[in-house]
Amino acid sequence: MKTKIVKIDKENFDKNSLKEAANILKAGGIVGFPTETVYGLGANGLDPEAVKKIYLAKGRPSDNPLILHIGEVDQLDYLVEDIPPIAYKCIEEFWPGPLTIIFKRSDIVPDIITAGLDSVAVRMPKDPIARELINLAGLPIAAPSANLSGRPSPTSANHVIEDMTGKIEMIIDGGETGIGLESTVLDLSGVTPMILRPGGISYETIKKIIPDLLEDRANLESGEVPKSPGQKYRHYAPRSEMIVYQGSVDMIIKNIIKDIQKHSLDGKKIGIMATDETMDRYPNATVLSLGSRSEKKEIASKLFKILREFDKLDIDIILAEGVELDDIGTAIMNRMMKASSGNIIDC
Ligand code: TXA
Ligand code: MG
Repeated sequence: MKTKIVKIDKENFDKNSLKEAANILKAGGIVGFPTETVYGLGANGLDPEAVKKIYLAKGRPSDNPLILHIGEVDQLDYLVEDIPPIAYKCIEEFWPGPLTIIFKRSDIVPDIITAGLDSVAVRMPKDPIARELINLAGLPIAAPSANLSGRPSPTSANHVIEDMTGKIEMIIDGGETGIGLESTVLDLSGVTPMILRPGGISYETIKKIIPDLLEDRANLESGEVPKSPGQKYRHYAPRSEMIVYQGSVDMIIKNIIKDIQKHSLDGKKIGIMATDETMDRYPNATVLSLGSRSEKKEIASKLFKILREFDKLDIDIILAEGVELDDIGTAIMNRMMKASSGNIIDC
């Protein structure tokens, strides 16, 4: 299949430029498109045959359900059985934006979307290209992150081109995504509101609206069984082995320097995922910076890109500095934990 690539300026685009993409979606094809979190791989969420193509293109396990993306809040009504009062508050506060909410599903939602669960995940993205595309298609759009299963999520069209060329009909290049980590997944389908995946909106921020909000412990502790199917897989992973160091910055630096010596003796080529403040501290290694430690949002936006850059370098092992678990730091550490298969050293 030939994949058409269309460049669109997020700030200033003509509706018509998205019509072809919307028509592909309506006809059961697949389109890679930007959202404010990461690029998504979109298909008609009401057409099981179209959705099947997403699983095939990604190589995604069939027990991992998909998020339905909507352009307007009223699209929600026919997709879900019940909208609890607390959900209305979250919608008012956080939609459009990087929050996915899990509801009890309605009968119209195909089983392939929910992987057989009785709940469905829905999100209204904020990115103007994503919103316009969904509205032009006039359909709920199923969209996982547009990476091959297991690889770091795409934060630019080039990442989607790397993973999806020849497998899908079209890729819309809308530049770099702003947030760079996926949406927060909030389960409101059960008795207790719970965050199943930390993401673009922090636990602390949502807790202001939902005081009894819980977090799935498995998001940050390896060895726990996650409640969301997607969280159990190795994910976001670079090709080489990765170790994450957690603790005070001084202790992180000390431990990484010590381990550089150890791994050098084993003949390994070492990559360091550092920050602007610390990147000069590491001899005998290829160092890439995630940005400044005081700008967590910048670190979030660059994490997947840097993981992909390491894949292009000749590296055997990545030693990565962790960040504090506050605000978006929780989502950053969750992705680092998954990328390293839980290989975390407490310093
Ligand atoms: O920011 C995002 O959410 C991006 C953009 C493209 O919107 N999408 C995304 O989709 O990250 P994906 O498929 O990569 O991740 C969806 C996550 C998975 O961990 C999946 O298991 C979980 O949401 N999920 C979906 N439906 C669920 C359900 N009914 N119950 C529990 N978890 C669910
Ligand atoms: Mg994903």
